[in-house]
Amino acid sequence: MKTNSSTELLIELHDGLPRLGPGNADSTLRALALCDPLPAAPDILDIGCGTGAQTLVLATALDGHITATDICDRFLARLQATILHQGLSSRIQTLAADMNRLPFPDRAFDLIWSEGAIYNIGFDNGLTAWRRLARPGAFLVVSELSWFSPNPPAELREFWTKHYPAMRSVEENIAAARAIGWHAVGNFHLPAQAWTDDYYRPLAQRIPVFRETHRDDNHAQEIADVTVVEMSWMDKYPSSYGYEFYVLRRGIRVATAGIAADDRANSRGIRTGPARSTAGGARSS
Ligand SMILES: C[S@@+](CC[C@H](N)C(=O)[O-])C[C@H]1O[C@@H](n2cnc3c(N)ncnc32)[C@H](O)[C@@H]1O
Repeated sequence: MKTNSSTELLIELHDGLPRLGPGNADSTLRALALCDPLPAAPDILDIGCGTGAQTLVLATALDGHITATDICDRFLARLQATILHQGLSSRIQTLAADMNRLPFPDRAFDLIWSEGAIYNIGFDNGLTAWRRLARPGAFLVVSELSWFSPNPPAELREFWTKHYPAMRSVEENIAAARAIGWHAVGNFHLPAQAWTDDYYRPLAQRIPVFRETHRDDNHAQEIADVTVVEMSWMDKYPSSYGYEFYVLRRGIRVATAGIAADDRANSRGIRTGPARSTAGGARSS
């Protein structure tokens, strides 16, 4: 009997859903509003775009060209079909690429976007690998599973320590971003409904068919089990953890010895002080 890999099973479980992870259009637009100033027609890179939930929101809100990248051909084919259907071929180009080895020249983009995907290579790795792609003053927007509470319930901490051990607090992620050369312009919690209504509800409807299709596959049953448990946490502990949107900006590098990149950034009105942290709600595996 053929054994399915975790990746194949997760793709099957998610393929055709309205979105592949927690998020919604309002939150994409809220993060975009913090990316100011942008050029009139920015060059945009969407990393881990999936079937393009956020790509299409960005294409509607901005002029400019979007390069939408993902490692999964099946997801990209779905996005490509939508692009053709909506007449967006001149605005969005899809490309199969590993987010750890993106094939673009240095300083190619004004705006780099990655919703619910940086966890695949880790927050610090992504921020480090993608920095060279950003023009000076360019923005990077990522959403990342983060602790909102300093003392989350033990059962919740145990689950996420097992399934996403790299999870940190919002403050720790902002400090890490700064150390890598990204200034936090703003950050906010993705609302809990963007997990429950926009992502988990359609996903939950898939589980019975998925279980039945793979009734003899223990691994598939485990994936369904973990997904069901994961979904229960957002109902139970929405204020303890969730996706945080991090809106980051690349400092301006200066040639003069002794003047920090941050100082030059300040002289251009770019905020370099501590980021504010708001309250709110919630990720997927
Ligand atoms: C949770 S989904 C999020 C997709 C989309 N941004 C959304 O919110 O609907 C994570 C995406 O990362 C992609 N991915 C996983 N590993 C990757 C890699 N190494 N390089 C590029 N994309 C990757 C997956 O194929 C998937 O589309």
